[in-house]
Amino acid sequence: MAKLVSATQMLQKAVEGKYAVAQININNLEWTKAAVTTAQENNSPIILGVTEGAGKYMGGFKTVVGMVEGMLVELNITVPVAVHLDHGSKNAANACIDAGFSSIMYDGSHESIEDNVANTKKFAEICAAKGLSLEAEVGSIGGEEDGVIGKGECACPDECKMIADLGITMLAAGIGNIHGAYPADWEGLNFDVLGAIKGKIGDLPLVLHGGTGIPAEQIQKAISLGVAKINVNTECQWAFQKATRQYIEEGKDQSGKGFDPRKLLEPGYLAIKATIKEKMELFGSVNKA
Ligand code: 13P
Repeated sequence: MAKLVSATQMLQKAVEGKYAVAQININNLEWTKAAVTTAQENNSPIILGVTEGAGKYMGGFKTVVGMVEGMLVELNITVPVAVHLDHGSKNAANACIDAGFSSIMYDGSHESIEDNVANTKKFAEICAAKGLSLEAEVGSIGGEEDGVIGKGECACPDECKMIADLGITMLAAGIGNIHGAYPADWEGLNFDVLGAIKGKIGDLPLVLHGGTGIPAEQIQKAISLGVAKINVNTECQWAFQKATRQYIEEGKDQSGKGFDPRKLLEPGYLAIKATIKEKMELFGSVNKA
């Protein structure tokens, strides 16, 4: 029976092979099915990101695990799939460990570095004992992600080293990246900071949040400097919204009964799949399962 896996092995392979695994944030059944089937069709590993808000919306973290595990079996998904808490608080991280998530992000970037170190260390011990992968964060990602707001300051390479040495699996470091749309005057990713961080932490996989709308050359340069996981959410939302709106505007409802919910959601589902495929091709994870 197909089972969830941690992100550890898939990210180590990605660092060695110089590509990145996509973290696709999921919000409902359609998002989840789009992510796992597209991963299978492209023979690519995938990480399903779940924010606290999305977990709550889907009926709780245990519901998410049940839904994904059910899909792995019923849809014959054999590529590596991890279910990963995105930007977790301490409470959410504990709840997701209990619920059977295979990967956890504890985001202590809003705390002092001392508290971030102390809390990350605790989660590193728990996750190691349970065989789960752990992501930590230094330097906040700009913009808003499901209620978590970051100012977007670049991470300090020495602080990255302090967190990297705690036994984590992957490190998210702010390098000028932003959640959501990038403003027209965005200066781009700060590769000097990324290079300095890489120099301190060696081969520990780096995570790039805010993967929507970063130009392809910058994505490729980031991967060459050790980024092995790239998170994408907003671009799937845009694709879903555009396709759904178009379907409604075409007025294909069932005379008097309203829209058939499955038909209504299908164009959005297909649009998300196309977006994920594009990302897997850009990140280089196709045929890397
Ligand atoms: P975007 O919404 O900008 O794609 O970022 C997603 C993300 O980083 C999730 O943690």
